[in-house]
Amino acid sequence: MALDLFSPVKLGGIALKNRMVMAPLTRNRAGAGGVPQALNVTYYAQRASAGLIISEATPISAMAHGYPALPGIYTDEQVAGWKKVTDAVHAEGGKIVLQLWHVGRISHPSLLPNDAQPVAPSAITPNGKAFTYQGLVDYVQPRALDVSELPGIVADYVHATKSAISAGFDGVEIHAANGYLLDQFLRDGTNKREDHYGGNIENRTRLLLEVTKAVVTVAGADKVGIRISPVNPFNDMKDSNPQALFNYVVDVLNQFNLAYLHVVEGGIHGGGIADPFDFSALRKHCQSPYIANLAYDKARGNAVIASGHADAVAYGVPFIANPDLVKRFSTNAALNEADSSTFYGGTEHGYTDYPFLGA
Ligand code: PHB
Repeated sequence: MALDLFSPVKLGGIALKNRMVMAPLTRNRAGAGGVPQALNVTYYAQRASAGLIISEATPISAMAHGYPALPGIYTDEQVAGWKKVTDAVHAEGGKIVLQLWHVGRISHPSLLPNDAQPVAPSAITPNGKAFTYQGLVDYVQPRALDVSELPGIVADYVHATKSAISAGFDGVEIHAANGYLLDQFLRDGTNKREDHYGGNIENRTRLLLEVTKAVVTVAGADKVGIRISPVNPFNDMKDSNPQALFNYVVDVLNQFNLAYLHVVEGGIHGGGIADPFDFSALRKHCQSPYIANLAYDKARGNAVIASGHADAVAYGVPFIANPDLVKRFSTNAALNEADSSTFYGGTEHGYTDYPFLGA
């Protein structure tokens, strides 16, 4: 029988009961101090029938924050809060990895310690608005990281990975997508550095490789995934030759035997038109399991698994509105509609109160 969304699979060292992955989703509902709270435990536990949950993007340090009410993964209190989440997901038979996040320039002094200036590969202000506790405000110019600061960033990834393991996660996903720090280094619209972290493709990939090497040393390569978004223009991103850049990124990541590569196959949030890109060519470069993401439905998800393009498919918005999405897909049940007004911040409404089938 052909493989489909409901076939089990191993992504490196992570065994999934099905191939429906819950995509990382920013929900802005953590407790004080970036500590996951009971509401977050309920939300994740409700979705544990997914083959794998990827946590919401989670700042690795105080300087990695870029939005209100994000959970962190760098203090003891945050680890204790996440432990309740992973215990609840595991009790329901699920698997969950933590997405390691540094936002780089997509931040604002009001979200950072001592009103710090956001950091980036280069001092280029993004077009668009920062989402702060005071509402939407203009981005400020970021400060270009000095080369001497980069080992400290790598150390923050290491500390966060150790914290995620202590918190009981089944692995970690390095967020190198969507215009945040590592992606800002990769793409030449945001990286104008003249040292060996900027310029040619090899140099722009250097920080991601250093982070990956360090995270793999702590977690084991078969527990580490990476997310990329080669042509996502969201967060004012562009690159002069994304196919060459990301084919190279995938080629060099092959050395690690990672658990998976997770690819956002286009542009998110209506953030502009994505440049043309051959994702099946990229996939042919990839020697690890491949998770496809972006606006897949059941039929297209089954099709990319049957064809071998993807080993699993990540669903975002459908998992917001349907905690039992796996059951709904497997029984061809109707889906709840997502309410976008409750995506970012708020209460249990639009978070843990979407109905299960038969409720
Ligand atoms: C968002 O908050 O809109 C967001 C966060 C992380 C992403 C993408 C989008 O990777």
